[in-house]
Formats: sequence, C-alpha cells, structure tokens
Amino acid sequence: MTSNANQYTWAGRFSEPVSDLVKRYTASVDFDQRMWRQDIRGSLAHARMLAKQGIISAQDLADIERGMAQVAQEIESGQLEWSIDLEDVHLNVEKRLTALVGDAGKRLHTGRSRNDQVATDIRLYLRDSIDDIQVLLKQFRSALVDLAEKEAATPMPGFTHLQVAQPVTFGHHMLAYFEMFGRDAERFADARKRTNRLPLGSAALAGTTYPIDREFVAAELGFEGVCENSLDAVSDRDFAIEFTAACALLMMHISRLSEELVMWMSPRVGFIQIADRFCTGSSIMPQKKNPDVPELARGKTGRVYGQLMSLLTLMKSQPLAYNKDNQEDKEPLFDAVDTVTDTLRIFADMAGGITVRADNMKAALTQGFATATDLADYLVKKGLPFRDAHEAVGHAVKAAEAKGVDLPQLTLDELKAFCPQVEADVFAVLTVEGSLASRNHIGGTAPEQVKAAIARARQRLA
Ligand code: ARG
Repeated sequence: MTSNANQYTWAGRFSEPVSDLVKRYTASVDFDQRMWRQDIRGSLAHARMLAKQGIISAQDLADIERGMAQVAQEIESGQLEWSIDLEDVHLNVEKRLTALVGDAGKRLHTGRSRNDQVATDIRLYLRDSIDDIQVLLKQFRSALVDLAEKEAATPMPGFTHLQVAQPVTFGHHMLAYFEMFGRDAERFADARKRTNRLPLGSAALAGTTYPIDREFVAAELGFEGVCENSLDAVSDRDFAIEFTAACALLMMHISRLSEELVMWMSPRVGFIQIADRFCTGSSIMPQKKNPDVPELARGKTGRVYGQLMSLLTLMKSQPLAYNKDNQEDKEPLFDAVDTVTDTLRIFADMAGGITVRADNMKAALTQGFATATDLADYLVKKGLPFRDAHEAVGHAVKAAEAKGVDLPQLTLDELKAFCPQVEADVFAVLTVEGSLASRNHIGGTAPEQVKAAIARARQRLA
C-alpha cells in the first residue's frame, strides 16, 4: 500500500490518499484557525468533565492542561505551523497536543466528535463576537447622542420624498439613528440567547455511550444550558443565521445613515463636513475630498446581505444531521462579524468628526415652505376644519412661489386674501423656531423634547 492516507486521524479504513486538490478543497484550517481559542477552551472543559466522571484519569487531565497551555502559547506567538494535511483547527490543535503529551492527547476526543466540537466552537466564537459588537454599538450610540446634544436645537429641513417637509433639529435627526441602532442592540442580545447553548455531548449525532455530564461542561463554558436534541445540536446553524440577519439589518441602518452623510457632504447640499481622516482625495482631481468611508459602508451592506443569503441557502436542503456543507458556514459568518465590527468602530469615531453647517441648513429651510403645515394648524386653531385649512394654505404657497418668497415673507394682507382668519400673531408660528418649539410632546422635535430624549438615551446607555 503506497499511501500517505494514514497521516489523517481518520485514515484507518482508507487505502488511497486524497489528491492535493481534494485536500485543499476540503480543508478549512485557513479560515477556521481563528477559532483556536474557543477550540482550546471547549477541549479543556470537555477534558475536565471526562476526568470528573472518571472517563480519563487525573493524570491525563493534568497532561492535557499542560499540553494545551503550550499549544496556546505556540499559536499565540505564531510558532505553530498550521497544516492543511490536518484539515481544520480541531485536528491541528489535537495533533500538536498529542505530539506534546502523548496518549493523554489521544484520549481527549473520547465521547466527542468534531461535529459537536465545531458547533460548540462557533457558538463560543459568536458569543464573544456579539459581546464585542455590543460594546462597539454602545460606543457608537453614545457618539450619536453626543452629536445630538451638541445640535439639539440646530434647525434643519426634515424631508419626505427628499422634498423639504417640516423643520426638525439635527439632534432629533441623530436620535432617529440612535433608536435604529438600539433595536439592533436588542436583536443581538436576543440572538445571543439562542447562541448560548451547548451542543457538546451530542457527539457525531446520536449522543455518546460514556457517562458524560453535559450540564457541567455547559457551566464551565458559561452556556445557559444544553441543546436538547443531539441531532439538532450538531446540525443547527439558526443562531448563525439570526446573527447575520441582525448584522444585515444593522448594515441597512448604517447604509441609510451613510447615504445621508454622502448627500449632506455634497457641496450642493453642504449640511455637514466630515473630518479629513474619513475622506480621501482623487488621484486626478486635486480639489476632491470624497466621503469614502460612508460610501464604502453603503457598499459593504450588500456584502453582509450576501452572507445572510449564503447561510440561508447553505441550510435549506440539508437532511439531518451534520453534513460537510456546514463547513461553509464559517466564511460568511466571520465576514459578517468582521464587516460589522470594523464598520461600527469606524462609525463611532466618525460621528465625533462630523461638523454641522447650520447656516446651510437654515438656508435650505427657507426654500421649501417648511412651515406650511404650521400655518394650516394655526388656521385649525382659529376654527377652520383641517381640510379647508390645507386648501387655503396650498393657495398661499402657490402665491408665495409665484412671488419667489417663503411664507413668512408674505404680508398679512396677502395671507388674509387666502384665509381671512389670519391675524398678526401668525408670524410667530411661521418661523422655524416657532414651528420647532410647538412640536412639544414625547417623540417630537421641539428642542426641549430633544434634550429630554437625550437624557433618556443616556440612561438607556448607562
Ligand atoms: N471542519 C469541519 C467543519 O467546519 C469540522 C467538522 C467535521 N466533521 C466531519 N464529520 N467531517 O464543519
């Protein structure tokens, strides 16, 4: 037999080695090695359980613990040479352990399969990632609140259909994003609950013949409980899909914000400046300062949607239980983690680098009859039914447009021509400040309310 098949831990029943292409095709070590910490953590918990249950000896456990400490140190320092001959992170770590401590290393896999091992590793990895993302989300949300506080009373046009609609404050606008990212934080917290269950103990698919203690392993690893059904446990990737769905939603919010930042930064609009460190120049046009970061974030949103689709499609036709298809779960998942993590880190910083051009916002507000609704509401308070008030104001807008002025520039007589109920006090409601101040209820844009909302936001972040 001219075979190097026996270099594989599973090679006993094989008579011919896999080709180099198949080896490369089936190996995952290039991308799953990033789970080495989780893999070792999981193995140590398993080994402690095996020793506690008398399945391996106390000496074996001591050897495994000592060996794993060394493996960890070798990986940390970049000494360990990952080998695709050993397929994945699990076999690489186990092989190195065995080289260091001998038979104890070979006993580690008792009562375990890579199927429940990998499921455990991914859950641990994802739980750590969710915790990192929550920290970043919090930083980003508090940067949004800081910006909102600075501009709590700064008027800007609020838009519908991208047409000037009504005055709002920039602070109010920022708090809208604070809410979106708050829901994202809730979604990650919720996805974490279903991630935080232990598959280990399911072994290949049916459970194991050894007297294991799964609850002990769950507690060792900080899981909230064990996965109930072994077949489900080794094949379930719902938690990864849920997480990626939460990432996709978060990126959709990032993309909406990015779109606004790009638009606001355009000289045509000129609502904001973004600090130079988030922009780049052009290799040909010396005058350019491009909002690359928000543009790229908008682009990366598509990438995360793609990862979600990959995972959903990966799972859709898989019969129970584990199939090798599942190895394809990692790259989309890791990419979603990386993209969201980097994006949040950069956005938390960028929010602090936004300066508002209040003059331009104010100028834009005078161009779209932003206080027309205020005039209609004024007439309603003078006794007109809302529909009639709406029509009367429509005529006033038409007249102002023809004259090339905004509503407050019409004279009292001109206004009276459309709505006789108008009196001199009307000008107070036609100003931007009057309009803002009058939306004075929870959720409204009155600066007083925005400040109260900021205080509540800070409490929620605490
Ligand atoms: N590298 C594999 C994965 O990521 C580990 C599990 C392999 N199990 C198996 N029965 N081949 O899914």
